[in-house]
Amino acid sequence: MLWTEKYRPRRLEDLVGNDEAIRKVRAWAESWEAGKPQKPLLLVGPPGVGKTATAYAVAQEYGWEIIEMNASDERDAKRVLRVLGSASASSSFFAKRKLILVDEVDGIQGREDYGGISAVLKVIKEAKNPIILTANDEWAAPVVKVKPYCDVVKYKRVNYRTLASYLAKILEREGIAYDMNALLELARRESGDVRSALLDLQAIAEKAGKITKDSIVGIGYRDRETNIFEVLRKIFKSEHVIRPFTLTATLDMDPDMFKAWVVENVPREFEDPEEIAEAFHWISRADVFDGRIIRRQYWGFLAYSSELLVNGPIVAKKRVYRKFTPYSFPQWIKLQAQYKSRRDAIKRIAQKLSPILHISRRQFWQDLLPLLPLIFQRDEWAANLVAAAKLDAEDVAFILGVAPTDARVKKILKRAEEIRKQVLKSHVFRQRSKTRPSGRAEVEAAPASGGKDKRPSSTERRSKDTGEAPEGPRQATLFDFIG
Ligand SMILES: Nc1ncnc2c1ncn2[C@@H]1O[C@H](COP(=O)(O)OP(=O)(O)O)[C@@H](O)[C@H]1O
Ligand SMILES: [Mg+2]
Repeated sequence: MLWTEKYRPRRLEDLVGNDEAIRKVRAWAESWEAGKPQKPLLLVGPPGVGKTATAYAVAQEYGWEIIEMNASDERDAKRVLRVLGSASASSSFFAKRKLILVDEVDGIQGREDYGGISAVLKVIKEAKNPIILTANDEWAAPVVKVKPYCDVVKYKRVNYRTLASYLAKILEREGIAYDMNALLELARRESGDVRSALLDLQAIAEKAGKITKDSIVGIGYRDRETNIFEVLRKIFKSEHVIRPFTLTATLDMDPDMFKAWVVENVPREFEDPEEIAEAFHWISRADVFDGRIIRRQYWGFLAYSSELLVNGPIVAKKRVYRKFTPYSFPQWIKLQAQYKSRRDAIKRIAQKLSPILHISRRQFWQDLLPLLPLIFQRDEWAANLVAAAKLDAEDVAFILGVAPTDARVKKILKRAEEIRKQVLKSHVFRQRSKTRPSGRAEVEAAPASGGKDKRPSSTERRSKDTGEAPEGPRQATLFDFIG
């Protein structure tokens, strides 16, 4: 039997390390027991530190039934809700409380597949049960989506001394001899991952019968997620160029994210502006290659780009800074996550406006977006635009920077509705007038101001009276809406 299974924590107190996190989980469970419903918990942290184990320990300790939901399978949400539904219907006095576990939320498949995540959100919103979600990466797209509905509890790598003494206890129970220094060394190599420590320890124990310095030689640093902080330290403190592959091979991070980390921390590490400039010069070259990789699917360039990214900062520095730099998570990715809803709103509005203005979305973004608040200074102008583009309350509220329930939003929408009806009417009128003998095309062919013929001006006036838009293929511009 695997030790990870044999020594699976049965109660919260069995978990080693992460005292603060465990305290929070306990308080949360106690509140539920006291009849006070709590927000779902989102346990975030590196692998093998006891996140999943926490959920099972809670269930066992408090006598709750655990229902695991497969987050990648949308149908599973229905099953979970059905199970919960039947429980509340019978509402047996003796029924156990049901704990829903959504493990590894960041593993929800498919970048664009929000099916899975929306199912999770549905369960979160509808279920009146304790819910625990786990994730490794706090900034993965699906995790960012569920986070607002949860209380976040952070798990850390377990300190190697704590880990070593936990391993020692297990060896004593198994009756296996050990050298404490060997155990400390092993624990250090495990980078705080309890699961992998247990797996390695059991493997050595079964092979060598005891744990000594010699027996752990074979255990290399596992090919697990290398800490990004270690990698950054190597890049920034290295005096010689290094082979990027040796650094990034075990780093469980996609190249774009890795680049963001390096970019973020160059100015934190380097103090000389010339060094910073040179580092960014090389990184920008890496960017050029990355662009080509994506556009041409030419993966051979990956070697160049990582070479520039890793060795650029190394050659850029004039000296190694003997200081501790608190490296930071890429801020723009954080902001990006925060402003996701903002971008969604802009995208929605662009989708409605760009076709009627005959411009690309990019053009909208760059040239017209800044003008929208100006147009919306006047209700009448705003209403014209709203009527033409069929903007809704949310769009208007976003442009005005107010809540969708705001009085001005309502006013503009109401006015837009009137305009739309008016235009509809005049459209019918125009259809009819087209069938008359003196067609409109003929009228417009005549110069507007010139000519002794009085007909054009009178027709012109008529078209103005009805508020009719000029006909023909002429492209609309923003100015059409503020006239
Ligand atoms: N903090 C811990 N204390 C004791 N055992 C742990 C701890 N973390 C992990 N383990 C061991 O590793 C196994 C796997 O842990 P798990 O909770 O699945 O990790 P995670 O979900 O954080 O990746 C557990 O069954 C347990 O044996
Ligand atoms: Mg887990």
